[in-house]
Amino acid sequence: MTSPSLRNVVAGYGTVNVLHGVSLDVPGGEMAALLGTNGNGKSTLIRAILGIVPVSSGSIVLEQDGQRWPLHEMRTEAIVDLGIGVVAEGRRLFGNLSVRENLLLGAWRRAARRLRERNLDAVFEAFPVLRERAGQLVGTMSGGQQQMVAIGRALMTAPRVLLVDEPSVGLAPAVVKETLAQIARLKTTLGLTVLIAEQSFHQATAIADRAYVIAHGAIVMYGDDIAAAGSGDAVREIYLGA
Ligand SMILES: Nc1ncnc2c1ncn2[C@@H]1O[C@H](COP(=O)(O)OP(=O)(O)OP(=O)(O)O)[C@@H](O)[C@H]1O
Ligand SMILES: [Mg+2]
Repeated sequence: MTSPSLRNVVAGYGTVNVLHGVSLDVPGGEMAALLGTNGNGKSTLIRAILGIVPVSSGSIVLEQDGQRWPLHEMRTEAIVDLGIGVVAEGRRLFGNLSVRENLLLGAWRRAARRLRERNLDAVFEAFPVLRERAGQLVGTMSGGQQQMVAIGRALMTAPRVLLVDEPSVGLAPAVVKETLAQIARLKTTLGLTVLIAEQSFHQATAIADRAYVIAHGAIVMYGDDIAAAGSGDAVREIYLGA
């Protein structure tokens, strides 16, 4: 099993701190939702786990197979090699390349290159529509299909932890539901540990095993508090800023 934990993480850009002491756990095999509206630090937290944004204090530790890896002291390449995959904000696909070409771009690291045909097969198992459309240009696909390509590309390294940054952006509500359900299914079939950043509060809490609400770079609600608050005033006040 593999499980990332953040403890009192302070991180940001230059001299500006965005995360002000964030603690969060994703137990092995679970899906945790990180909920918050624009500009509250969701992507920054994901980038901190990946070593793209430096951690100035606190710790990010990955417990994996009885070992403890201090991610906050490691370089991005080494973090990725531990089996942390990411579906970046905005998908970052190449619209003028085919599905297959986009997927293969996920396997550029040497270790992944060796296994790319096997991993490609696993992606096609997970998303049969991508096998059917392997030669189609990604720019001509629907938003939901493009999101499958983005997730598939992240799976091309056979990660054990998957970080997904706002997969629902730009998708119709019904497609959001289907996309989140697909991620939940992948968690189970591939035994992934998943952290998903989302703005769609109700849809994400419906499928996540645990949830955190982040506001102004701090966790302001967690788990049972969120369930208890439901659609009540506390959530409206903190989450929606109303
Ligand atoms: N590269 C950067 N340089 C400086 N400040 C940044 C940078 N990226 C983000 N920020 C700032 O950090 C804060 C948090 O941004 P972040 O992107 O983490 O939020 P978010 O919750 O992912 O928002 P969204 O839902 O819009 O993606 C914002 O105030 C933002 O302006
Ligand atoms: Mg973001």
